[in-house]
Amino acid sequence: MDNGKQPVDFNEDTLRGLLSGRRIGGSVYFFRKVASTNEIACELALKGASEGTVVIADAQTKGKGRFNRVWQSPAGCNLYTSIVIRPPTEPALASQITLMTGVAVAEILSSYCPYVTLKWPNDVQIGGKKVSGILAQMRASGKRVDFIIVGIGTNINMKRDAFEETIQDISTSLREETGGDISRVDLTVKLYDSFERWYARYIRDGFDPIRDMWLKYNSKGRHVQVVSGNELYKGEVVGIDGDGALLLRDENKITRRIIAGDVSILRGLVCF
Ligand code: BTN
Repeated sequence: MDNGKQPVDFNEDTLRGLLSGRRIGGSVYFFRKVASTNEIACELALKGASEGTVVIADAQTKGKGRFNRVWQSPAGCNLYTSIVIRPPTEPALASQITLMTGVAVAEILSSYCPYVTLKWPNDVQIGGKKVSGILAQMRASGKRVDFIIVGIGTNINMKRDAFEETIQDISTSLREETGGDISRVDLTVKLYDSFERWYARYIRDGFDPIRDMWLKYNSKGRHVQVVSGNELYKGEVVGIDGDGALLLRDENKITRRIIAGDVSILRGLVCF
């Protein structure tokens, strides 16, 4: 989308300067247009890119969401980024990273707009509409995570009529919610800061503090339906457990554990 404004400061030099020396963002790859920042980050990680390497694009031609959905990625208005991390966790616990990232994103978006919530497993919403989504992809060898690519798409200054018609009623941007243009550079730097803090906490203290904060951003008690494999589950959200799985209580008061992410396998990379 061209929303009439040229991105003035959202460029490689500005971002490099502001992020220099940081654990997350210390190494920046910036592109005006790429197919998908997750794909680039994955190629870099396979070549040995260090933890904290970030890929940022002004536009994506094949931005992807979970279940191979398209992530609309026009130029000049949003943030599309992927972060390479190499956590010392077991692959089975990697889905906790998606929830951790949700907390980091929600915290930052809340500083712009007060009504930010999290929807399991990977949606950040304002007023029930999606403002940001997370797509994590992992490469593992045996019991070791080799790397995880954490892809984050955040709708910042996108106008309502720029969203494809089919998602106009379920999507939003910070600009739509706050009524003003927001600096993408500021938001990007704050987002990496927040990610760095929550990631450090996760490594130090484990998943419990993340779960507590995640639940504060989630409307517990909400009735939802979840498609998991070929099954459709309906019930009330009663929490998430220590592994990051959703706990759903059905009308017979049976609580079911839905494994985070409805995992699908894509070309040797696990998406969650
Ligand atoms: C979802 O909600 O289904 C996840 C959306 C993730 C979109 C981001 S944009 C940056 C990164 N590159 C991609 O191709 N996807 C993620």
